[in-house]
Parts: sequence; C-alpha cells; structure tokens
Amino acid sequence: MIKKFLDLGYQPLANKYLKSYKKLSIKKKELYRLTVGFDTKTKLVSLFNKIPDKIMFDGNYPYKSSMSKTMTDSFRKLSVKIKNRFNPKLFLEIGSNDGALIKNFNKNQVICVEPCSNLAKITKRKGYFTYNNYWDLNLSNKIKSKFNTVDVIYSANTLTHINDLNQVFKSITNLLTQDGILIIEDPSFLECIKKLSYDQFYNEHIYIFSALSVKKLINEFDLELFDIEKLDTHGGSLRYYIKRINNNKIKIKDTVSKQISTELKFGLANFLTYKKFGISVKKSKNDLVKIFKRLKDKNKKIIGYGATAKACTILNYCNIGNEIIDYFVDTTPDKSNRFMPGKNIKIKKYKKTLLNNVDYIYLGAWNFKNEIFKKERQFIKNNGRFITHVPKPKII
Ligand code: TYD
Repeated sequence: MIKKFLDLGYQPLANKYLKSYKKLSIKKKELYRLTVGFDTKTKLVSLFNKIPDKIMFDGNYPYKSSMSKTMTDSFRKLSVKIKNRFNPKLFLEIGSNDGALIKNFNKNQVICVEPCSNLAKITKRKGYFTYNNYWDLNLSNKIKSKFNTVDVIYSANTLTHINDLNQVFKSITNLLTQDGILIIEDPSFLECIKKLSYDQFYNEHIYIFSALSVKKLINEFDLELFDIEKLDTHGGSLRYYIKRINNNKIKIKDTVSKQISTELKFGLANFLTYKKFGISVKKSKNDLVKIFKRLKDKNKKIIGYGATAKACTILNYCNIGNEIIDYFVDTTPDKSNRFMPGKNIKIKKYKKTLLNNVDYIYLGAWNFKNEIFKKERQFIKNNGRFITHVPKPKII
C-alpha cells in the first residue's frame, strides 16, 4: 500500500525552461500536483502523478553531466575502478547523457543508450556506438541480437526516472552475462531525509531509492547487492554493485549490511519516519520564506546560482518569484536567456560580473557548494553571502 507523506503543491515540469515569460495553467495540464508516497511493502518512495517520459526526455534536454567538474571527476575515478575491478569487454551505459563517463573508455568497448536526441548526437559525433532510444525490452533485444551479452551495465541518475521498473530490470537481466555486473547510482533517500532536501522531488525523479528498496526490488529479478559506496554527488548518492544471485564467485561486502542496518535504525522501513519528514518540510518552507522576506524588506539584492530542476521545486512550493530573486546565473548554454518554469525568473549565462552589487545568492545548486564557493571566493571576500535550505534554511 502506498501512503502519501508529502504534498509539494502544483508544479511545472522541471527542466522545461521557458523561452519567454508565461503564466502556466492547471487546466492546460502545464502544472501537475507533486505528491509523494511510501510503499509500506516494497519500501519504495515514488511520485503519485507520473509524467510520460516522451514529454520529459525529448530532443531539448538541457542537463549535461559534463557541465560540472565534480561530476566529471567522479566519472573519471569510476572508470578507473570499473576497469581495474571488472575489466569489461563490453560496457553499456543507460542514460549516457553527453558522454561524461564513457569518454574514459575505448570506443570499441562501449554502448551508449540515451533517449534525448540532442545528447545522443554528442556521443554519436564523438564516435561512440549510441542508441537514441528509451531503455526497454525492445531495445534490450535489439542490442542482444547485435552484441549478444554485456559484461557491465552502468546507469547513474536514470533508472529512477523510468516509470516501469519491472521492464527496466527485465531488460537488464536479458542482456547481462551470467557473471555480469550491474552498477547503478542515484540520490540516497537517507541523505535526502537527513538533509531535508525535499527538492530531490520533481517530475523526473519518479523514485528515490534507498538500499532497502533496491534490495527488495532486485531480488525479484534474481539479482543481489554485493557492495555499496557512498558518494557526495547529487547531495549524497549511493552506488549499488549488483550481481546475479547464482554467481558465487563474488563475495558480498559488509558495506551492504551496514547500509541496510543504518537505514533500518533511521526508521526507513516505517511510515512514521516519512510522515515526520513531511512535517519538517513544511517548517523548512516557512523558515526559508521568512529569510527571503526579511532580506527583501531591507532592500537586499538577491540572485540565484544554478538554475537546477531542484530549485524549480523550491521556488514553486515556497512561492518565490522574481519579486524576490532578480535572476539566476548558470553555466549551461541551453538554459541561458530562458525563464525558471512557474516562477518566471530569468536565467542569465554565468559571468563573474553578474555577481557585482549582489548581496545574497540563493544556492540552487547546493549540491555543488564546495565547487561554487571555491569559484566565488571574491564574492565571499566582498561580504557577499549565500542562502541555502539544506540541511535547514540559513545564511552562510
Ligand atoms: P544539478 O544540481 O546537477 O541539477 P538538477 O537539480 O537540475 O539535476 O545541476 C547543477 C546546475 O548548476 C547546472 O545547471 C549547472 C549549474 N552550475 C553552475 O552554473 N555553476 C557551477 O559552478 C556549477 C557547479 C553548476
């Protein structure tokens, strides 16, 4: 049974940055209700209203993994690990984006799967074998008929974006060699709850995984966890290493039982924990709104940094518009000169001078705090301050 624990109100589609100022309407289905539930049986956290993937992942997907040094560094380190630990003959990435990970592999060793045509084009152009398709059984069969089986399948921040998880894992086991490895990484619900980062919820994040839910989910497909790594990326993620249950050559590391027991101790198996999280989110909203109001009453100039999908949830839930935040700065070319959906705050292409005469910066990309603080030492030296809502609303 799926029980609701969070209601973030009517929201626009995140990552659909608007070309011009536009008032979105519920009637025209430009806004949807963002409510989140916990399945008491499977322990899986999911959105109630799901947007069709063809609407979300099209030929204009703005997010590029290569835009941040934190992500490219993380992928480079991972590629070394995969080569040393598993030495795959054939490596497949589901959701290869603009190739931030696969660029570390030989071209004849890699298969890319990417539904967004603007991104698939990039890896194709670089000479990587790329399927511009959604991940499903049809595609899995198509790949199988050409390549037979694959040694290592990897997917970061993608499987949680696909509604039909049954098909996702069927398509994986269909293609994985008998002693093949599946590695997936996604934001950790435990970190989300600890950091009160409720902005992890938006239409693309249909599921937020915990080790508890992943363990149950994959067991249905005769798969099991054999290692878990904690990562700082995306506000705290888990990297799950998965094998077939009947593969006894690989030992199960105690990282798995440790993570599961930490989650159980934290109460991730109990609905009450989720209910309390929902109550804390309401308080977090009120506290953040108070900070913005207090600063605006003093006529402070506030801008946003990182026009993220996460910020879209915050702005719309907390009703923060361009009367509070003058503009966002962001390095992503496809976001510049667009508007934050629902709240119509302009996004400007990042340049240092846009931080001149600014008193406060709202950290839309709080998950890149260290990278951003390093870059903006001068702003901080000049007494500029940042506002964040993670782990609680405050000025830093
Ligand atoms: P991310 O947090 O990965 O996004 P989402 O919530 O959309 O999944 O995206 C980070 C955004 O912040 C991305 O649009 C690039 C931007 N950014 C900057 O503008 N400057 C920076 O220094 C960094 C690290 C990110």
